[in-house]
Amino acid sequence: MSKIKIDLTNYLGIEKNIDFRGHQDKVFSIISNLYSSKSNPPAMTGWLNLPNDLGMFQQISDYVEKIKSADQYQHLLVLGIGGSSLGAQALIESLKTNLWNRLSATKRKGYLTVDFIDNLDPVIIRTILSRLKLDKTLFVVISKAGGTVETIVPMLIAKEWVGENFYKQCVFITGVETSRGISLLYELSQKHNVPVFPIPENVGGRYSVFSSVGLLPAALCGVDLNEVKSGLLEADSLCQMQDIRVNIAASIALCSYFSYLANKNIFVLMPYSTCMKRFVDWFIQLWAESIGKNQKGSTPICAIGATDQHSQLQLFNEGPNDKLICFVKVSKHKRDLTIPDYSNDNPNFRAYAGHKVGQILNIELDATRRALTENKRPNITVTLPELNEFYISQFMYILEVATAIKGNLLGVNPFDQPGVELAKRYTKEALMQS
Ligand code: PA5
Repeated sequence: MSKIKIDLTNYLGIEKNIDFRGHQDKVFSIISNLYSSKSNPPAMTGWLNLPNDLGMFQQISDYVEKIKSADQYQHLLVLGIGGSSLGAQALIESLKTNLWNRLSATKRKGYLTVDFIDNLDPVIIRTILSRLKLDKTLFVVISKAGGTVETIVPMLIAKEWVGENFYKQCVFITGVETSRGISLLYELSQKHNVPVFPIPENVGGRYSVFSSVGLLPAALCGVDLNEVKSGLLEADSLCQMQDIRVNIAASIALCSYFSYLANKNIFVLMPYSTCMKRFVDWFIQLWAESIGKNQKGSTPICAIGATDQHSQLQLFNEGPNDKLICFVKVSKHKRDLTIPDYSNDNPNFRAYAGHKVGQILNIELDATRRALTENKRPNITVTLPELNEFYISQFMYILEVATAIKGNLLGVNPFDQPGVELAKRYTKEALMQS
């Protein structure tokens, strides 16, 4: 079976003076520490247990089967924010495209359409609620702390719109006993008999995509959990390999660490796939919230190829040389299209004839890498053999490990978010006073 690969040629060729090898031992000891702490709750590395949590995978699959066979629902509405939303969005969009809801029920094979409310934008909340058949909607409410304002407010509005059956149509994913006491969602679940999927205490929001937080909504939209599990198990062993040539997480962390030291502390993630837009949004949260602290960090930026070749590429190529660009190439695009030969209409069309669309996308990617390298803009390329459950899950897990390593290399705690907590507290205080 093909493997995810990383190509560092255009990085090592430009950044010739870095001591990559000299840092390997340090990185491998960080990885060992991460793994040895995974069953020690205060360490917040419980997400490293998720690939092996067979009970959780089973529980989710059983629930999805139950929902499908009851045939009561057509729609899924996910209420949650940040780490309690982006992982599921990334999985579903990467694997099912952002046009999933436009497919007929037959083409969706009985799985649900999906909408996410992850902001207090009244226009969006109203529009989504008014377009769904509310009696056919399953509400998945996700909050680890259990009382996050951006999640609870749309839930209250939805309750008003749905009426007395609301809680019967809900499932909650929440922490049980949180650092601030019993989760509000958990309390509600006990009172109204709502099924609950608990979030382990030592799994933080942005590292929770492979808990029920990401997997339950994804599975309700037909994402194959067996393939996710296989991908994760492979990633889990890859990330522990003490060989820099195969340990992609270690390579990404090291390249970005040395870029940071060289004042290139902007990290651009640029997949050549529109389906991966939400994937990058998920990564941005993971990276920014994990390592942006103590006046340190590197700013994550989203770019989508080839679209951003006609936008941000000018800046990447000739603006300040302050970035590390990580291209993501998809070797084989699903359901690729062959370009017809219309050279009779115009001889210029001959250049396209017979090519696959995905092939042209990859030709553009290689051309862009070449142009950037000629301008001494460091770049690395991760190649996914295909955009499927197996490789997407692997890559997400690899990025989680890379982020944790990078935080440790910078000497910051990649698992807390004091800056976010502070704003949450101020919002609550202001609400109490008004
Ligand atoms: O990564 C994090 O911890 C945050 O982004 C949270 O996921 C986000 O603030 C939502 O928190 P909660 O799940 O407690 O509602």
